[in-house]
Amino acid sequence: MTESYKTLLVDIDEDGSAVVTVNRPEKLNALNNLVLDELEKAFSSLKENRSVQGVILTGAGDKAFAAGADISELRNLNSSLGKKAALKGQSVFSAIENFPKPVIAAVNGYALGGGAELAMACHLRVSSVNAVFGFPEVSLGLIPGYGGTQRLPLLIGRGRALEYILTADKITADQAEKIGLVNRVTGKGEAVDASKVLLGMIAKNGPVALAGAIRAVNVSGGEKGYEKEAELFGGLCGTEDFREGTAAFAEKRQPVFRGR
Ligand code: COA
Repeated sequence: MTESYKTLLVDIDEDGSAVVTVNRPEKLNALNNLVLDELEKAFSSLKENRSVQGVILTGAGDKAFAAGADISELRNLNSSLGKKAALKGQSVFSAIENFPKPVIAAVNGYALGGGAELAMACHLRVSSVNAVFGFPEVSLGLIPGYGGTQRLPLLIGRGRALEYILTADKITADQAEKIGLVNRVTGKGEAVDASKVLLGMIAKNGPVALAGAIRAVNVSGGEKGYEKEAELFGGLCGTEDFREGTAAFAEKRQPVFRGR
């Protein structure tokens, strides 16, 4: 598959990991409309690509993952365009959150505003030690609008989320790990490689089960979470992967999953 993008680089390794890089380093990978459109397109195409087992999302250069929504575009918004822009960002990020294969954000530098929101839409976050997170929106007279006010409290709790959103304070990588905003911290320049190792550990497991786990966890906390979990669990009990996984355990061998 060779799709070409103006603001993204997409590389698919032989081991099945796709690396999607937001490629506007001169603007610290700020998320303009085109980046959002292309992210939507890239994820939709990677979803259909059976050779892809998971995605790593990162930013070009060593300074930024993404320094937020593109402020030069934000400046032109009025109330109705602003709502439309937020709904669009939310929809693109929801597609990432609900992507049926694991998505890891390899945060290699600034992840501010929309950049932090993008990292939070991914299933897991690996951060390099020099990364800086933060929600500077209130300093611009705004609030996080690409899902940040909803996902941050789920990840770090309501009290801490309000603190960071209301103060617009920056969060270091070490702090981010302590509060559960990121899963692990690596050396500078090592976030993508560490994400590949993590993806390799995940990809050994049954792909249908991974998709089910993502769906179940994504509805946790909601009214129908337990019902959905039972429904997905039942569905998985009817898969070949389930028969193979349990047979492999009984036969003391590694399972060979076929994703069905
Ligand atoms: N939108 C548009 N352009 C951005 C951007 C954003 N969110 N963040 C950075 N840039 C651009 C800068 O305007 C600059 O472009 P220029 O060279 O054409 O002037 C370039 O990226 C480099 O940024 P610069 O500010 O010079 O780098 P720095 O190292 O001095 O500061 C930051 C880095 C991240 C602290 C600073 O760029 C910043 O505060 N960015 C905005 C963060 C933000 O508020 N994001 C939330 C938006 S909702």
